[in-house]
Amino acid sequence: MKGIILAGGTGSRLRPVTLAVCKQLLPVYDKPMVFYPLSVLMLAGIDDILLISTPRDQPLFQHLLGDGSHLGIRIGYAVQDHPGGLPQAFTIGADHMAGERTAMILGDNVFFGEGMGALLTSAMLGRGAVGFCTRVTDPQRYGVVSFGADGKVDKLQEKPVTPLSDWAMTGLYVVDGDAAARGAMLKPSARGEVEMVDLLGSYLAQQRLSMVKIGRGYAWFDAGTHDSLLEASEFVRTVEGRQGLKVACLEEIALRRGFIDLDRFAVLAHDAGDTSYGRYLRAVLAEMREA
Ligand code: DAU
Repeated sequence: MKGIILAGGTGSRLRPVTLAVCKQLLPVYDKPMVFYPLSVLMLAGIDDILLISTPRDQPLFQHLLGDGSHLGIRIGYAVQDHPGGLPQAFTIGADHMAGERTAMILGDNVFFGEGMGALLTSAMLGRGAVGFCTRVTDPQRYGVVSFGADGKVDKLQEKPVTPLSDWAMTGLYVVDGDAAARGAMLKPSARGEVEMVDLLGSYLAQQRLSMVKIGRGYAWFDAGTHDSLLEASEFVRTVEGRQGLKVACLEEIALRRGFIDLDRFAVLAHDAGDTSYGRYLRAVLAEMREA
């Protein structure tokens, strides 16, 4: 199954932190931010991924993630020269998609909750486009989706002054092979970007859009501001500290999803050295060997 991580943009809201390094490589507690969206794709069984970044940052992502083979997946790279809008991911990624259904996730979106991978897997098996939304207290900051009395999607708004609901669109989407052609027909909005809500709106107009409501047991952060970045870090630290389990540990997910075997995992656990991350991997190894 195919996936795209869109990790470009200017990171202007996080300056000066992002003057020399992009937002998606900043730490969310104990891992680079991009591990979190990548983990969502991997949990859904997606093993063929295109990472889109700025030309400046591409070598850094390649240094971090390589070709993905150590995780038993394929990671390819493409650049977005200017941040012209989220739907550009599908034109830049058209060859990668090859007309197939694809999941796209923003590189600054952190999801947490049991069953997140399964939610995405079932969206991948559906038709048309699928969005994922969650209740928030500040819908003005996001794309907003409102529902009719029949529970179906009624309207989509981007950063509305007067939101029609408190359901925010997260930065996770599933589209079909039409997405690039649809995106190419859209005009930029007042903020100069082609908007994802407009692309989804074209599916909605043909009753080909569905929306998954992410329920109470999940947490979602768009780590795009200093406060939300810190909140995401604090959240991950709290969960990991209480449970002793890591969130978005790519090596562990690769093992548990069957992308790599125990022998390959043992090498990664060894190579991680005398760090808390390495000790965690070796604890997982011991547990899996006993099982
Ligand atoms: O995070 C969810 C929200 O993401 C949605 O609720 C909104 O509907 C959607 O428009 C988007 O809103 P943002 O305000 O977060 O969009 P922003 O322009 O900040 O871009 C989101 C991320 O995507 C950010 O990490 C930068 C990256 N990006 C953005 C654009 C416009 C790119 O890589 N390329 C781009 O062209």
